[in-house]
Amino acid sequence: MKDYQRINVDHWQAQASDYVQAAERNWRTDSVAWGIWKIPNQELPLLPEDLSGSACLEIGCGAGYVSGWMAARGGDAVGIDPTPAQLCTAMRLESELKRGAKFVRGFAESLPFPDRSFDFVISEYGASLWADPHEWVPEAARVLRPGGRLVFMTCAALFQLCVKDVDTDPLTTELQRPYLGMGRLDWGPPDSVEFTLPHGEWISLLTSQDFEIEALRELGASAGARSDYDWADPKWAASWPTEEVWMVRKRSAHGLAKRTTG
Ligand SMILES: C[S@@+](CC[C@H](N)C(=O)[O-])C[C@H]1O[C@@H](n2cnc3c(N)ncnc32)[C@H](O)[C@@H]1O
Repeated sequence: MKDYQRINVDHWQAQASDYVQAAERNWRTDSVAWGIWKIPNQELPLLPEDLSGSACLEIGCGAGYVSGWMAARGGDAVGIDPTPAQLCTAMRLESELKRGAKFVRGFAESLPFPDRSFDFVISEYGASLWADPHEWVPEAARVLRPGGRLVFMTCAALFQLCVKDVDTDPLTTELQRPYLGMGRLDWGPPDSVEFTLPHGEWISLLTSQDFEIEALRELGASAGARSDYDWADPKWAASWPTEEVWMVRKRSAHGLAKRTTG
């Protein structure tokens, strides 16, 4: 296990109980919404309405509600996460609500699945933030079929530049660290490790793995937006992005494959 994997599993093992209430709510809702500002799926379409016949994978599934949403939309959904306490919440809610999602323990950097076994891979602040992109992006590319889609939401690069060293402190309007060379970000205490790449590096990495970039959405707060997170400042986020979503598609051997989802 790499040092940051151990640090992050310990971190999430300790944090898991704080996320149970939100997970209970998200597992039960019909209105899928994303991220800090709860942007509805109609405005930010991370999940296709119909996933029937699609093999779907969530990497860094945490409490598993995104996997539950995919199963409810007809997908054959699997969530993977390395933290036992998070999986415990996911499995408990699945066994109660019977959406049909399956859960597996593991890291996004070494997925226990065969090549080309999924049509759709998603991460909402899972591997997309907590795993090394140079390790998990090639793994996502490996398990996706040609034409399959990868969608991930994570902290905006600009947001990570303006966060103070203690990441629960209020957001600043000054750059706190270099953009060039940004990658691994060590926070603490309590210790945790996130990964955020400059946009040019995301593009190089994704295209090197045969992904065609369909969209990059940089997201802030719209008027009246509210968040459950104390540090999320709607005034700051009216001017700058707090989070970003990448939507990419695996090329076929002969250019882009026929679209099967989305
Ligand atoms: C913000 S939480 C989960 C996000 C999920 N959407 C949720 O809200 O429940 C982040 C998750 O990433 C997981 N994680 C940390 N390191 C990981 C890695 N290397 N590979 C996959 N998942 C990882 C943690 O265990 C944690 O459950």
